[in-house]
Amino acid sequence: HAHIEHATLEKVEAAIAAGATHPTIPEYEGFDTYRAAGGYDTLMTLRNGARTPDQVQEDILGSGLRGMGGAGFPSGRKWSFVRAAPGPRYLAVNGDEGEPGTFKDRYVLERTPHSFLEGMLIAAWAVEATTCYIYMRDEYPAVLHILAEEIAALEQAGLVAPGYIDLRRGAGAYICGEESAMIESIEGKRGLPRHRPPYVAQVGIFGRPTLVHNVETLHWIARICREGAGVFADHGINGRKGLRAYSVSGRVAVPGVYIVEAGNTIAQLIDLAGGMAEGHEFYAYQPGGPSSGLLPAHMNDIPLDFDTLQDHDTFIGSAAVVVLGHRDRARDAALNMLRFFEDESCGQCTPCRVGCEKAVKLMQAKSWDRTLLEDLSALMVDASICGLGQAAPNPIRLVMKHFPEEV
Ligand code: NAI
Ligand code: SF4
Repeated sequence: HAHIEHATLEKVEAAIAAGATHPTIPEYEGFDTYRAAGGYDTLMTLRNGARTPDQVQEDILGSGLRGMGGAGFPSGRKWSFVRAAPGPRYLAVNGDEGEPGTFKDRYVLERTPHSFLEGMLIAAWAVEATTCYIYMRDEYPAVLHILAEEIAALEQAGLVAPGYIDLRRGAGAYICGEESAMIESIEGKRGLPRHRPPYVAQVGIFGRPTLVHNVETLHWIARICREGAGVFADHGINGRKGLRAYSVSGRVAVPGVYIVEAGNTIAQLIDLAGGMAEGHEFYAYQPGGPSSGLLPAHMNDIPLDFDTLQDHDTFIGSAAVVVLGHRDRARDAALNMLRFFEDESCGQCTPCRVGCEKAVKLMQAKSWDRTLLEDLSALMVDASICGLGQAAPNPIRLVMKHFPEEV
């Protein structure tokens, strides 16, 4: 199941020689090809009443599919919350893949955009959404181009009414990937996270119940509806269930997206990625984005999946795995992460806005003031409004725990 994406200089030069201009549009499965292979048959049979939303919701629940944006909330349960709230309802796709090290949604969108679009339309059918908003990060110009073309093809084929799918461009703010900030942005406002509850399933876009899904989640929804739950659920190793798209980067020989059994360990992922890059020995790894912090190389046998990292005070998130080598220092990586959070904090609440800034200053000291950093971390976790500020101290805490000799 390993799919390796590896852009070589030769490929880029060949594309330029063939007349490609920026942005280079990758080869992908367009509407005609997807449709000729039976694509959208599932959507049409569902719309024609072959199965009820309740039945499909049970299939999704039974498959064990969980939110692939990183939080792992059971996808079928989200449907039931939204369906229980009175209409009109909306669907919003979170395509603001901003977690550093995460590029798996881009992989899906640049290859099989219609598996994602069909999944979106199936979910929209299930919750009777009156509009589907796709919030796509502007840093993916090829994806925006592909989606505009393929949505037009769907409209032309009569599968959706013009305007039913509303493609929105993000503007480069990490916080707009937080679902309520994304909703504010879709509404035309500055992207500030909202307090919850209420959850967006009850009070979302323009105050209406909104189903928010990640791109990869919708890709799996289409495949499960078409091929059966087994296409996802019959996989998994080391006691886990399902498939995961791990974005693997850092000091490995072949960085890329690896769509493999859930439960792979970091040791197995490094093997899949061709081993360590030449001249580097495995030292540490980020299991799931900067907010998951860093673990040392000797913790190399943990099945990487939702829940399995809880006992180690971290999580898999969007499975953005970054591998560090023996010439890297965990404290430098952690400082880099906190600088990122400082830049990207929306500034709405003091514990996060001021906390990130203070943490960056404290982490620049040769010897860290551990008591003060621990106090600051506790405050940020307890008092920040959203996940950014609540998770930002994770790299600090994990470096103090696992790499004390560095700080
Ligand atoms: P969360 O666990 O609070 O919520 C997950 C989803 O479940 C949301 O859609 C939420 O509305 C819904 N939900 C949770 N409890 C609910 C309830 N009682 N009723 C109705 N709906 C409920 O997590 P959150 O803050 O949305 O996401 C955090 C994750 O996002 C982290 O694990 C992080 O790894 C990931 N992340 C991913 C990024 C990416 O680029 N893919 C970027 C940044 C963070
Ligand atoms: Fe904004 Fe940070 Fe507060 Fe989240 S925790 S609302 S990003 S200031």
